[in-house]
Amino acid sequence: MSWRLELRGVSRDSVIRGGPGEFSAFVSEFSEAEPEERGRAFVITDANVAREQAAELEQLTRFGPARPLVLPAGEPTKDLDTLGICYSWLAEGGARRDDVVIAFGGGVIGDLAGFAAATYLRGLSLWQVPTSLLAQVDSSVGGKVAINLPAGKNLAGAFYQPDVVVIDPVFLDTLPREEFRNGLGEVLKYALLEGEVLMALLEGNVAGVNQRLPGALDEIIERCVRYKAAVVQEDERETGLRAVLNLGHTLGHALEKYLGYGRVGHGRAVALGLLAALRVSEELLGLNRGVRPRLVTLMAGLGIPRQADLPDLVGVLEAAGWDKKLTAAGRGYVGLRSLGEPVLGLDPTDDLLLEALEVIRI
Ligand SMILES: NC(=O)c1ccc[n+]([C@@H]2O[C@H](COP(=O)([O-])OP(=O)(O)OC[C@H]3O[C@@H](n4cnc5c(N)ncnc54)[C@H](O)[C@@H]3O)[C@@H](O)[C@H]2O)c1
Repeated sequence: MSWRLELRGVSRDSVIRGGPGEFSAFVSEFSEAEPEERGRAFVITDANVAREQAAELEQLTRFGPARPLVLPAGEPTKDLDTLGICYSWLAEGGARRDDVVIAFGGGVIGDLAGFAAATYLRGLSLWQVPTSLLAQVDSSVGGKVAINLPAGKNLAGAFYQPDVVVIDPVFLDTLPREEFRNGLGEVLKYALLEGEVLMALLEGNVAGVNQRLPGALDEIIERCVRYKAAVVQEDERETGLRAVLNLGHTLGHALEKYLGYGRVGHGRAVALGLLAALRVSEELLGLNRGVRPRLVTLMAGLGIPRQADLPDLVGVLEAAGWDKKLTAAGRGYVGLRSLGEPVLGLDPTDDLLLEALEVIRI
């Protein structure tokens, strides 16, 4: 089933459409539009996506004056040097204000190509065609675009809504297993935030999700996207509510940093961060103690480990101190009063955070 929603941003609106086969439908519609109506497409992707989704890339390339820009895969690509490569490529291709940048890839390509689109000629149209699960449920929606600087991740960026996001679960077929699990970490976050319906949908579809059946994944992805879009529409610039999307991320980021980036997947770190957040929520918000075992069972079913080797818990807390999401007002920790009822701005004590980390320690 295809689905569609509109996200009304402060300066631009996004049309977000998804479903199995939605990419083909989108390409057909695009082909029928007059070239002067649709603009010319400048497609940015990475080497893995270019290889695994070659036919689809070719379909997008037909709408542009230039060959696609195929960048090395991985987080290091989201840097200033590569942003410069994007600008030079757009300039050499003669990109104009009425042209379109298409980000065809995971979150790295989405963030980088999005930032290039937001800034080149003070803003070209941006279309996101996310190909990783993380990008489909999270990074392609909401308009945050960024690159990393030597001083830290995502330090240079903008809020820039894509005009169109096309989310087709069929792309996930070629995604490496670890990357699929990374996306599942974010899906679990949305299940806790959205509440019983998404949680039960996941619980009832573990096998289908593991087999990546587009039919099983589609409604799950749609619900994540609808949740995020509603939050972003309410608070695009993250002055308040949007921070609920950080559930599990304060300790998740700390675990990534403590265990070493690349040694633990982002999604696995987020899932562990979620478990810890539930423990904190049990203490501070009286969260029903039945929620955490449900998350543990889901993680087991989805092949996400529920524990990590953490010899030095204080070291993890120190790593959390670096997190840029900390505010002067406190840790700005996100908890859950009940499934689907997040609470912002908690300030758990170090002792409680240490206790929460015990829950995920081997
Ligand atoms: N803008 C936001 O709101 C937001 C939110 C969350 C994360 N992010 C950013 O997203 C990035 C992580 O995104 P990601 O996990 O998608 O990483 P990624 O873009 O590096 O993709 C993960 C890997 O999967 C490969 N891949 C992607 N789609 C594929 C497919 N269909 N078939 C085969 N291989 C495929 C990529 O080549 C890469 O090797 C980080 O930089 C993070 O900061 C941004």
